[in-house]
Amino acid sequence: QVLILDFGSQYTQLIARRVRELNIYSEIKPFSSLPSNLDAYQAVILSGSPYSVRAEDAPHPDLEKIKGVKPLLGICYGAQYLAHFNGGNVAPSATREYGRANLSTVLNEDVFLDGISAGSQVWMSHSDTIKQLPENGVLLASTHDVENAAYRIKGEETYGIQFHPEVYHTKDGSKILENFLVKIAGIKQDWTPKAFIETTINELKETIGNEQVILGLSGGVDSSVAAMLLHRAIGSRLHCIFVNNGLLRKNEFNSVLEQYKDLGLNVKGVDASARFLEALKGESDPEGKRKIIGRTFIDVFDDESQMVENAKWLAQGTIYPDRIESVSASGGPSATIKSHHNVGGLPDYMKLKIVEPLQLLFKDEVRRVGRSLGMPSDILGRHPFPGPGLGIRILGDITEEKVTMLQEVDAIFISSLKENGLYDQVWQAGAILLPVNSVGVMGDERTYEQCVALRAVESTDGMTADWVNLPYEFLQKVSNTIINRVKGVNRVVYDISSKPPATIEWE
Ligand code: XMP
Repeated sequence: QVLILDFGSQYTQLIARRVRELNIYSEIKPFSSLPSNLDAYQAVILSGSPYSVRAEDAPHPDLEKIKGVKPLLGICYGAQYLAHFNGGNVAPSATREYGRANLSTVLNEDVFLDGISAGSQVWMSHSDTIKQLPENGVLLASTHDVENAAYRIKGEETYGIQFHPEVYHTKDGSKILENFLVKIAGIKQDWTPKAFIETTINELKETIGNEQVILGLSGGVDSSVAAMLLHRAIGSRLHCIFVNNGLLRKNEFNSVLEQYKDLGLNVKGVDASARFLEALKGESDPEGKRKIIGRTFIDVFDDESQMVENAKWLAQGTIYPDRIESVSASGGPSATIKSHHNVGGLPDYMKLKIVEPLQLLFKDEVRRVGRSLGMPSDILGRHPFPGPGLGIRILGDITEEKVTMLQEVDAIFISSLKENGLYDQVWQAGAILLPVNSVGVMGDERTYEQCVALRAVESTDGMTADWVNLPYEFLQKVSNTIINRVKGVNRVVYDISSKPPATIEWE
């Protein structure tokens, strides 16, 4: 496996993804806490960083146990760091070097750049540059503006590149990483979903032994795949709880429950709709609603867990991006690990041990594992849906009538996306009930009814998003169907805001 030392670059997670796409397992650790079991790693990659190596407070870890011992690749800051501390010279660049560049010279005497030719597009993002290589440095490639774009250290398996092989715009980036990891470090490309499933099931069997585990299913991809892995490992000793908070999509509770049962899961559906609606009565503040929904979920989940005799474990569908320790500005790891939003904040008195079988995976890897487990594509391809559900898509206070109205609107929108082959092209879609009445005319009658907004976004991680350019004819048809079929709605608008500055949800 590969160790990626994070110096705080915005691209560190991408490095891990690219490596894993090569079917090689990689792990990110903050530069400030080198793992003690270095023997477990076959190669090390140093990430970029917002720092300048010349700054006193910049990350300066001791690499004595790594450099010259293991294959080592420094990217951007990493490359400058290796140069700076080995007698090279790093200084501010005369021109800003951001964005697209092309390799002008490639010296192919080393397998590192096998298959890469001059002209290959690379992506730069740096303000310092390596003016002079260390004395034992060997130049491997240059661009028009950056002479020392790639180099190696003589007599070692140490390499540095100024550009970012992990970003999509570096056309041969994966090839370079593959050359380094496979040809130089000799790592086998055997990290596959199948291998992951096998190892994980064995680990789960060993960790859990004969004890009982509870898991909150949400209908989403992560908790469903986590449940399937655990089910394979411990069978009916996994007790799944699927709570209906009354704010799910139309018919979702029953259809998802049936799907889970078909998969053989030991699942209990708990319809707590009335309890949630009662608790939400009269609350219109977005944060207030979120808090009530979160608290009520914990109460319901706690009540249900008590009924599982001898439960010792709580399983969660936490995935890798939820867990990565980020590097704080002070250089130390800030160690903020997000708790999984759907079961986050369970009270301490539950005294359950936590098991998180997906904690090493990215979202697309979770889907691959699910596919390999034979799970149906409508579970794996399901759009993300927020824990507080329609509760944060009904602006203002929540009533049963409003929930039903929004469920109808949402169902028309989502089924139309599916019927028109658009569902899988969209990262997430839904409808929002606005607290706005407007005048309309139906037949010869004046109406004064509510307005709904439709939202469809494309994204890769929910952190940034853009609205989807859905065909006008499609929107026209959906709007017509909604207004004709859903009583109380006389106006439909389409949200064309990106994130940032807007967010995906309206509350
Ligand atoms: P925003 O609105 O912050 O949403 O742009 C980003 C992504 O997160 C989802 N989301 C939530 N998911 N619990 C969840 O499980 C929540 O409280 C929550 N709030 C937002 C949202 O649907 C989108 O995918």
